[in-house]
Amino acid sequence: MTVKKVLLTGASGRIGRTCFKAMCDTYDFILTDLNVPDYEISSPHRFIPADLSMPGSAVELLSAGQPDAVVHLAGVPDADATFEQLLPANILATTWLLEAVAETSCHRFVFASSAQTIEGYSVDVQIHPGLAVAPANLYGVTKCYGEALCSFYATQRGLSCVALRIGAFESKCDALKNARDFSAWLSPQDAVRLITRAIEAEDITFFIGYGISDNRFKRFDLSRTREVLGYKPADDAFREFEPGSLIF
Ligand SMILES: NC(=O)c1ccc[n+]([C@@H]2O[C@H](COP(=O)([O-])OP(=O)(O)OC[C@H]3O[C@@H](n4cnc5c(N)ncnc54)[C@H](O)[C@@H]3O)[C@@H](O)[C@H]2O)c1
Repeated sequence: MTVKKVLLTGASGRIGRTCFKAMCDTYDFILTDLNVPDYEISSPHRFIPADLSMPGSAVELLSAGQPDAVVHLAGVPDADATFEQLLPANILATTWLLEAVAETSCHRFVFASSAQTIEGYSVDVQIHPGLAVAPANLYGVTKCYGEALCSFYATQRGLSCVALRIGAFESKCDALKNARDFSAWLSPQDAVRLITRAIEAEDITFFIGYGISDNRFKRFDLSRTREVLGYKPADDAFREFEPGSLIF
């Protein structure tokens, strides 16, 4: 199926902005967020503000235009957040949105999960598909919940879902603090490659993909993500940022 119209939640955030700018010639976007984006939006794209944690807001959003795919980036990406801070965006919004999307003929739901789903494993463990989740904070727990929801809507309600365990999305080296961050780095260009493949890859019911660049030491084993999604990362934190001078 040709994907043309994409609903992008969290469009004003760091990854949302990056995706829109890189993909605006490929897809017609319905952009949504609590906050108005700080970039220019022109036809055929449009922005509809919404608080997705409110019941009914996702249904209203979808009635404004039937997307072929949904990329759900809205969330609170904070490993130190309390449950009260996480509940609206990471639990309620994801639940209402999936329930609403499952009622449509949408072809693909892409969920921004996180490497925090597995940060309970020590840094010398490489994460392979099939390893049990091991969150080290409540933020990670909310992303495990999102993955479980995707699995439920895929296997029980017929919605094709791809959850992406995004690592450390950064454009600058300064933000990468330690060995773990280098091994989990996801460059903006690779994020665009990965999310594009998550939208486009065929024949998927439910898949958990790993969202890191081609770092020479990898927190995640990328082999299944390359195979199932056709993801071809090009960047490597250890080449890009020469971390030789850093103390790990
Ligand atoms: N940045 C990373 O390194 C990273 C790593 C792993 C996972 N992720 C996940 O990727 C997604 C995007 O990350 P980001 O770095 O762009 O985050 P961000 O904080 O820059 O953007 C998130 C956006 O979600 C919006 N939002 C929050 N609550 C909302 C609500 N109730 N209704 C509508 N919009 C709401 C915010 O206004 C914000 O613009 C998040 O779900 C995050 O958990 C990010």
